[in-house]
Amino acid sequence: MTRSEPAPMRVAESASEYELVLTVAASTTFIVTIDGPAGTGKSTVAHRLAKRLGLEFLDTGAMYRAAALAALERGIDPADGPRVAELVRGMELHFDWTSDPPELYADGVAVGERIRTPEVTRAVTPVASNPLVRAAMVHAQRAIAHRHRRLVTEGRDQGSVVFPDADVRIYLDAKPEVRARRRVDQLRTKGIETTEAEVLAQIMERDRMDESRKDGPLVRPHGADIVDTSFIDIDDVIDRLEAVVRSRAGARLAEGRAASKSGGSRP
Ligand code: DC
Repeated sequence: MTRSEPAPMRVAESASEYELVLTVAASTTFIVTIDGPAGTGKSTVAHRLAKRLGLEFLDTGAMYRAAALAALERGIDPADGPRVAELVRGMELHFDWTSDPPELYADGVAVGERIRTPEVTRAVTPVASNPLVRAAMVHAQRAIAHRHRRLVTEGRDQGSVVFPDADVRIYLDAKPEVRARRRVDQLRTKGIETTEAEVLAQIMERDRMDESRKDGPLVRPHGADIVDTSFIDIDDVIDRLEAVVRSRAGARLAEGRAASKSGGSRP
């Protein structure tokens, strides 16, 4: 895997922001997890927050999608657990960290937009419910974080399973009806016409599958900050998340100061 330089740090506009920037910059590891259901704008939000904070960005949904794409391309039934697991174990997945957002490669080939088709979106549900696939992905994601220690990572299980000790754990939520409307609008821009009722039914079914699977179900991670995006636009969501990170990083800074005064150190 290639290692890119971290994105340039945004210039601080206030004393408290300056402190936040210093805290994040001085940290050799700083992990922000963002989990939540589909349609909350997670990917866009996580990517923009990462840029704002000068951190790297990991899209774990893309990894599951690449596995689903590989199964479809090889004619493997996505619900055939053992065969999909064998396929994933033999797959070489890596991100090119020099592109922004990092580009995912499967067996040396960029997956690009091929992982965003409706076929892959359908196939990914059984693939992501496969415990052996999840174990491989969790392992791969921790290995990535070992090399890219200053990261905003987004998915369904990042704060609950993969990085339960992350510095900041965020859960993004939105009402299913709002998520359905956003999806319909998004599809319309691609020339695909659907009804809100149809998309809502798909979203509810996907939520049910994500929440009920045994391994890595979609849950609100313990101690997570919950942000509802139903009635706020994306710029406001980013501002809120930055405020969450600021307050969490501030608490960490205060902990560090208290520990250094008493001669101890942060665990
Ligand atoms: O966020 P997305 O739509 O790109 O995710 C694709 C699928 O992968 C979706 O069905 C949820 C699943 N997923 C998961 O189970 N765990 C993750 N950490 C990320 C995504």
